[in-house]
Amino acid sequence: MSEKLDRARAYEEEKRTQTPEGSKCVFHLTPAVGWINDPNGFSRYQGEYHLFYQYHPYSTVWGPMHWGHQKTRDFIKWEHLPCALAPDTGYDGQGCFSGSAVEHEGKHILMYTGVLDRMEDDGRHTLRQTQCIAVGDGINYEKLPENPVITAQALPEGSSKEDFRDPRIWKEGDTFYAVAGSLGVDGSGQIALFSSADAGKWRFESILDANGGRYGKMWECPDFFPLEDSQILIVSPQFMHAEGLEFHNGNNAIYFVGSYDREKKKFLRKEARSVDYGLDFYAPQTVETADGRRVMTGWLQSWDNYLTPEEFPWSGIMSIPRELELRDDRLIQNPVRELERYRQNEVSHKGVTLSEKAGKTELEGVRGRVLDMTVEADVSRSDALTLHLAAGEGFETTLTYEKGKGTLTTDRTYSGLKKDLLCTRSMYVDAKEGKLKLRLLMDKYTLEVFVNDGEQAMSSVIFTPPEAEGIAFSCKGESSLDLVMYEIMV
Ligand code: FRU
Repeated sequence: MSEKLDRARAYEEEKRTQTPEGSKCVFHLTPAVGWINDPNGFSRYQGEYHLFYQYHPYSTVWGPMHWGHQKTRDFIKWEHLPCALAPDTGYDGQGCFSGSAVEHEGKHILMYTGVLDRMEDDGRHTLRQTQCIAVGDGINYEKLPENPVITAQALPEGSSKEDFRDPRIWKEGDTFYAVAGSLGVDGSGQIALFSSADAGKWRFESILDANGGRYGKMWECPDFFPLEDSQILIVSPQFMHAEGLEFHNGNNAIYFVGSYDREKKKFLRKEARSVDYGLDFYAPQTVETADGRRVMTGWLQSWDNYLTPEEFPWSGIMSIPRELELRDDRLIQNPVRELERYRQNEVSHKGVTLSEKAGKTELEGVRGRVLDMTVEADVSRSDALTLHLAAGEGFETTLTYEKGKGTLTTDRTYSGLKKDLLCTRSMYVDAKEGKLKLRLLMDKYTLEVFVNDGEQAMSSVIFTPPEAEGIAFSCKGESSLDLVMYEIMV
């Protein structure tokens, strides 16, 4: 083991016991210490699900990237494992960037991006990115002596040597494939496809897709997988421009439903859509479960919104893993069914009437910050319906449906922020015949909303003091709702 990995493991071991369990989320993956970003290496290995992530154990801000590691059997209860990769070689000394994993002949194969600070002939420093392999047993990983296994030389002439990262590996029959993000000769984003017989020697196959300057520049963190009868490409573009309510400025996570032309090795895509319409969701990655479900998790943070309170020993939360399905060429996302096993203390209310005159309505037993709550509202006679969450002493985060606009808006203006950060985001929702169904997951610092059985997801983080656990409802006009709420206990 290298000194750097040794040091990271010793450091996290010493520090993590000092992080009170209660300071973390209950059913969402967080690190015990340090900074995390993108999910990496989400994979099934020897019957368990492993999730690695971009990790800087030594502080709560981004730094030289390691791979942190946890595993789970049910996507809800996570077990800490020692840091898996440290930036400790001549080809990845500036960072082990994002990547993926696959099981092969009893071994766990990690594919990641090595970042190297290089002095060019003209004296400029550049950060070269190459693709590397590490092989392990679920705890310890050895980097291949032949690393890096793919360099930018393999890409079409003129492609960037600095922006070439985030390999997504998978196996089809006896062949390994991988896609990675890169910048083409014109500076726009492209996804390169490679193949290999042994995961050691790789060959360039094709530019699977290229964005031609549309949908941002570099497409980070590609994921490419079959779903039902279609093929899905998920990418996380940098530098996007807002378009209506579909895309926002900066880093987005978007997907395309399409088909995969295996002969030509090209992806034929349809429309682009946002994966999640909240304030914080990036770099999602999927895994196929033993029973054939496609499950996705993303980093609950936006690169431009850093909210973590200074006193926290950790920064970064992964979304609830979501089962993916397709309906009318749209991704349907619902929390993994395993979550239902952790529901406790059911509270339900039927036929609650709300009126403008009555003002804010609280319901008996309905409060909390660690919960799974479904609200089915009749909004046919109301112009607006608001859910007031994480409320108390000057705090609240609201979720408002406005009939005139046809939108649902998250607003965390009063979530206790001390910085001038982006606080609202809206999306169009379909109130079918005046009915809107909202499933809300809250886990202290998270709010994830699933609309109409997974038609849309909207995720944001809030760092409101956990004591602010009030929940109330208000409307313009009249409305009625049924509600069922559970506490989640893990
Ligand atoms: C996306 C990303 C990746 C990169 C990693 C570095 O959030 O920028 O492209 O591999 O983060 O931490």
